[in-house]
Amino acid sequence: MSILITNIKQLLQVHDTNVTIVKGSDMKDLSILENAYVYIEHDTIIEFGTMDEYSTIEAETIIDATGKIVLPSWCDSHTHIVYAGDRTSEFVDRINGLSYAEIANNGGGILNSAKVLQDTSEDDLYAQSIKRLNELIAMGTGAIEIKTGYGLTLEAELKMLRVIKRIKQESLAKITPTLLAAHAIPAEFQSKKQDYITYITEELIPKAAELRITNYIDVFCEEGYFDIEDTEAILEAGKKYNLKPKIHVNQFNILGGVALGVKYNALSVDHLEELGDNDIEALKGSDTMPVALPGCSYFLSIPYTPARKLIDAGLPLAIATDYNPGSAPSGNMNFIVAAACVKLKMTPEEAINAATINGAYAMGVSNMYGSITRGKKANLIITKPMNHYSEIPYAFAHNPVEQVIINGQLLE
Ligand code: NIG
Ligand code: FE
Repeated sequence: MSILITNIKQLLQVHDTNVTIVKGSDMKDLSILENAYVYIEHDTIIEFGTMDEYSTIEAETIIDATGKIVLPSWCDSHTHIVYAGDRTSEFVDRINGLSYAEIANNGGGILNSAKVLQDTSEDDLYAQSIKRLNELIAMGTGAIEIKTGYGLTLEAELKMLRVIKRIKQESLAKITPTLLAAHAIPAEFQSKKQDYITYITEELIPKAAELRITNYIDVFCEEGYFDIEDTEAILEAGKKYNLKPKIHVNQFNILGGVALGVKYNALSVDHLEELGDNDIEALKGSDTMPVALPGCSYFLSIPYTPARKLIDAGLPLAIATDYNPGSAPSGNMNFIVAAACVKLKMTPEEAINAATINGAYAMGVSNMYGSITRGKKANLIITKPMNHYSEIPYAFAHNPVEQVIINGQLLE
């Protein structure tokens, strides 16, 4: 199978060498070719260049992309797309004045989703989840992280992992599974948090590791959920099974989760709506990617991650959807790129870097995804006709995507 795309108005994120992360002021550069072509064989990017350099290539499928932009598919490094049901009633409760914390304290929130998921069959959970993923693929997502965390019992967490495994086998998208058993304290452990932590470290993590599905471990490090000490115990237990941290920190409160993540060589620290100077200092010189989730800030009306502070300190930044039923019920990366520009004051170039190569880094896949580089996987977006790539975030809430190529296959 081979695909040739010609006459591309702008080809974005083009790198001759295999770039795997972009930091600080380098995020302002989005290496671009005007009037370009790309050639793909099977699942791999083989060649690209400008139309001036182009000499005939035979291909089974030829796409004339006159007036269109081509870029790497979105890399969404933080999602909870395996869930059952929805939380529309809590959405209405929040409109009527209740806070996210008040709803959670009344038995809503994550525990509400966990109850529904526990009562949902594995086949039904798979059907609900793959439908979501297919919608995201059509909107340009080509690589995606999926967390557990709505199980909260051994049985239900393993059910989630098996569903994620099945998605990984069935989908053309690149899937990165993460174990998030420490997402909330189940009702039956409410006054015995320590027992739940022991259950996670001594039963859940070892059993999950046996399935060999995930390489990553997550904890919701937050007041009312897991404090620093709890988080450290869970990261330590994960380490024994080579599970690298990708953790929820600083969503509502600064507990020191950023420095803890860096100490445990976390691949990413995510949320960061609240961010102190110490957190920025801790990230400097580390290999940990900060990840902003502007869809969550939008939906919960909480502060946006101070992206400028991070980038202006020379740090990298990724952006992701946090797609979940409670705090961010949308997985549309096009909107996230727009929100990064409008609310995080990132330039379109910075936002696109954050949503492609840096998102791939935050899933540990940036050696094969996130840029147009010879030998990398052919996951591409072909946009509708537009004058400039800045129209992707500018025309917010429009769908800029016309076609996607995923793992070398063209989807209409
Ligand atoms: O990333 N913060 C913790 N977890 C999710 C929300 C989960 C939920 O409300 O169901 C998040 O925002
Ligand atoms: Fe999340």
